Amino acid sequence: VIFNNSKEGSLEVAREISELIKKKALKNHQCVLGLATGSSPIKVYEELVRMHREEGLSFQNVVTFNLDEYYPMERSNIQSYHYFMHQHLFNHVDIKPENIHIPDGTVSQDDVQVFCREYEKMIKEAGGLDFQLLGIGRTGHIGFNEPGSHYNSATREITLDHITRVDAAPAFKGLENVPRKAITMGIGTIKKAKRVVLLAWGQNKSEIVKETVEGEISSRIPATYLQEHQNVTFVLDKEAAASL
Ligand code: GLP
Repeated sequence: VIFNNSKEGSLEVAREISELIKKKALKNHQCVLGLATGSSPIKVYEELVRMHREEGLSFQNVVTFNLDEYYPMERSNIQSYHYFMHQHLFNHVDIKPENIHIPDGTVSQDDVQVFCREYEKMIKEAGGLDFQLLGIGRTGHIGFNEPGSHYNSATREITLDHITRVDAAPAFKGLENVPRKAITMGIGTIKKAKRVVLLAWGQNKSEIVKETVEGEISSRIPATYLQEHQNVTFVLDKEAAASL
């Protein structure tokens, strides 16, 4: 779906998420959301916060699982995804703290595999992801599933692509400060979500959007695996859609 601008697209996605939360609440069900970081979802979170403040949208029945986190990474670090999510969403809504899940950038190297298996198990035990929000990196990554990721991959530790680190460098005030690793949900984890919405804004994303939507499915561009999903929408602005 192509919108005039990122604001219009974000409002529509926030509306879909809020409808899902309310529908689940009416049935006394939890609503399990897979959430993303980066600049792309910021306006969606802004709108959800507004709906909470002005329209009484409640997050009491919401359970969240974030896609990824740098590794290693302290929670209090302003570049952490833990910090990002609290700053943009969790600090401003009534979500129960015990319902928030973000990959833990502080686990020891010896424990990281066990942590990842546990993360997968928690998603499964929550009933799976009802809705997964995604951005896309210039390498074609979703979460931090860099080129070479297996279509069936689960939550795991990965090595970041050079391009991804270059794109993150300004936030870290220099490439040398960008972590080399991350923990990410896998392609297999994302593909099991009942509904997937990928956001891409701006000219910078137009080439990778074209390759993802029109190119052949391949681990070279992990986001192409979404072509196999039964219920996925790409929400784009005109600039991101320009090469289609
Ligand atoms: C990071 C995140 C991704 C995100 C991507 C794009 O690499 N791990 O989840 O989609 O950046 O970021 P942005 O939305 O800022 O373009």
